[in-house]
Parts: sequence; structure tokens; C-alpha cells
Amino acid sequence: MTYEQYHHPVMVSETVGFLVRGAGIYADGTLGGGGHSFAMLMAMRNAGIEDDSLLIGIDQDRHAICEAEKKLEGFARNTRLVQGNFRDIAAIVGDIGKRELPGGKVRGMLLDLGVSSFQIDTPERGFSYLRSGPLDMRMNPEGAVTAADIVNSYDEQLLSDIIYRYGEEKKSRRIAAALCSWRKERGRISSTGELASIVRQVVRDPGQQIKSLSRVFQALRIVVNDEFGVLEEVLKSGSECLDPQGRLAVISYHSLEDRAVKQCFRRLAADDWGPKGVGLREPLKAAGFRLVTPKPVVAGDNELARNPRSRSARLRVIEKKECPGGKSEDAH
Ligand SMILES: C[S@@+](CC[C@H](N)C(=O)[O-])C[C@H]1O[C@@H](n2cnc3c(N)ncnc32)[C@H](O)[C@@H]1O
Repeated sequence: MTYEQYHHPVMVSETVGFLVRGAGIYADGTLGGGGHSFAMLMAMRNAGIEDDSLLIGIDQDRHAICEAEKKLEGFARNTRLVQGNFRDIAAIVGDIGKRELPGGKVRGMLLDLGVSSFQIDTPERGFSYLRSGPLDMRMNPEGAVTAADIVNSYDEQLLSDIIYRYGEEKKSRRIAAALCSWRKERGRISSTGELASIVRQVVRDPGQQIKSLSRVFQALRIVVNDEFGVLEEVLKSGSECLDPQGRLAVISYHSLEDRAVKQCFRRLAADDWGPKGVGLREPLKAAGFRLVTPKPVVAGDNELARNPRSRSARLRVIEKKECPGGKSEDAH
């Protein structure tokens, strides 16, 4: 199975519409199968700005880079693909941009968060509770820690905490206890099938099982890939390296992720009025960004009908102001 056969980029026309506005440097921090990048490059070609633009695609999964290389073959002159973590997006974009398009403005960045359908549906990657595979869950196959390391070494309290915090699973304590008694009685938990069967033993109601499985798998995946740590870093450093009028677009797939993006964007777009009660006429420091999407954009009915993955997707966009406090043109 290849990405091409079934990977549908989520809210692709909305994303391209928000991001591609003039020649310059664009970065896709979550290249995956290259679907969004392909659409962005196509939009640049159609707008006649391809020759003065560069797209830098980043993914921590070397398999994704290989697949995207094939998909973006026709745009090779204007694309540079890098295997790396998007937490380093500012350095990667800075280095390549300076070398390849000196003076080019950083116009747009995309983060389409989480795992790709291809990663989920490849049992050997260990993300799936539907088909058993090794308990892995590393988006970067060379990463240091696997889900098996966590499930087999964390104590009961810590397991319960991460399942509750990152999976929002109410039966976290009972699931953590079941994991630990399995370890005691039967040894190492090493496959996604074993993990799923332990969760099913705790959550007996078939109607609830899928939800609990998704939550437990989500929680482990978040910890294995330090998803909130890298998200915080990329939102800060990515937004800083945009040029004025440059935009950062983020697509998230669960409420914890969307909340983190929303809160960060609100902070970036808020004027600093100093301590309460001082009664200033002007802010101490005007915001450097504006919210392009005060509310998250969600997939339209057509997309919802043909792409189940789009159901939970939320797209948010911010734009760097021309000068803090000044107004930036609203092109969308
Ligand atoms: C939802 S998929 C992106 C799909 C892509 N937009 C497309 O059109 O094919 C997310 C991708 O981001 C990658 N990824 C997730 N977190 C990352 C990180 N911190 N650094 C680099 N890549 C990351 C995953 O490996 C995965 O390939």
C-alpha cells in the first residue's frame, strides 16, 4: 500500500488558500505523503510565482520523505526535503532559505499534526489497535523510546497519569493496574494486540471499547513522540521566523492539541496591557500577530463525507503583523 493510494490531505484547498500569497519561502513541517505540499506547489505554479519560491518539506519519518519525493518529483527544482523534527524548523528554514533563496521572505508554514493514515495503517509501526504489530509508535523510526519501553517500565501511577492526561480516559487507573498485573504475571507487553486485549478486559462494554482504545493509544503516542513538547517549541520558533505578513497554519486532530494551538495563538495575538488596574491608554507592547481565523475552520460537508479523518480536524491560522501595533492587510 502506498500513500498515494489512499491518503487524502485534510482541508487542502482551505489551507492553500490561507497560506500561498506571493513568492517566497514556504515550509511544510509535516510533509507526510506530500499532499499539502503538492497542492501548495501547484498553487505557486498557477500563480506564476514558482520560480521565485521554495518549499521546504520536513518530516521525522524517513519513509514519508521517500514517498513525498516521488509525489513532488515534478517540482524538484523548487523543493528541498529534510528528515528532521519540526521543533528545529527555524534553523532548517533559515539555513536552506539563506543558501537557496537569499532575501526570500518566509511567507508561510504548515503543521498538519499527528500521525499519517499511512503510519496508522502500517501494523509494523505499532500505532494500530486493529491489526497487531510491535508496540512501537515512533514517528521517527530511529527515535530512542518506544511505546513498549513506556508500558513495561513506568510504574502504575505514572501510567495512570499519562493515560488520564493525554488520553482523557476515565478508566485510566484500572487500565494502569491491569497493565501492571499483566507484567507481573505474564512478562513483557510487546505487541499492540496484547495492549488492546488488556484494555478490552477492563472496558467490557463493546460500545466504549473503541473509544478507550483510541484514548490509550493516543496517550502513549503523545508521550513516545513528545508531541506537546515539540508543539510548544515549533509554535514559538516557527512564528518567530515568519516575515511580516507571513502565516502559520496548524491542523490539529484532538481537543488537547487544538486547545494548545488556540491558547498559543491567542497569546501571540494579544496586546500586553501590563498588570491589571494600571489603566493604560495604550498597551505596553502591541501584539506581533493577528488571528486570521478567530474560530477554527472545519471541513465542509463534501470532505466530511469522503474523508473520515477530516471529522476531528481543526484549522487555525495566524499572521505576523507588518509592524507590531500596525495593521496588516487582510488578503483572505
Ligand atoms: C498528518 S501527517 C501529514 C500529512 C501531510 N500533510 C500530507 O498531505 O500527506 C503528519 C506527518 O507529520 C510527521 N510529524 C509529526 N510530528 C512531527 C515532528 N515533530 N517533526 C517532523 N515530522 C513530524 C509524521 O511523521 C507524519 O508523517
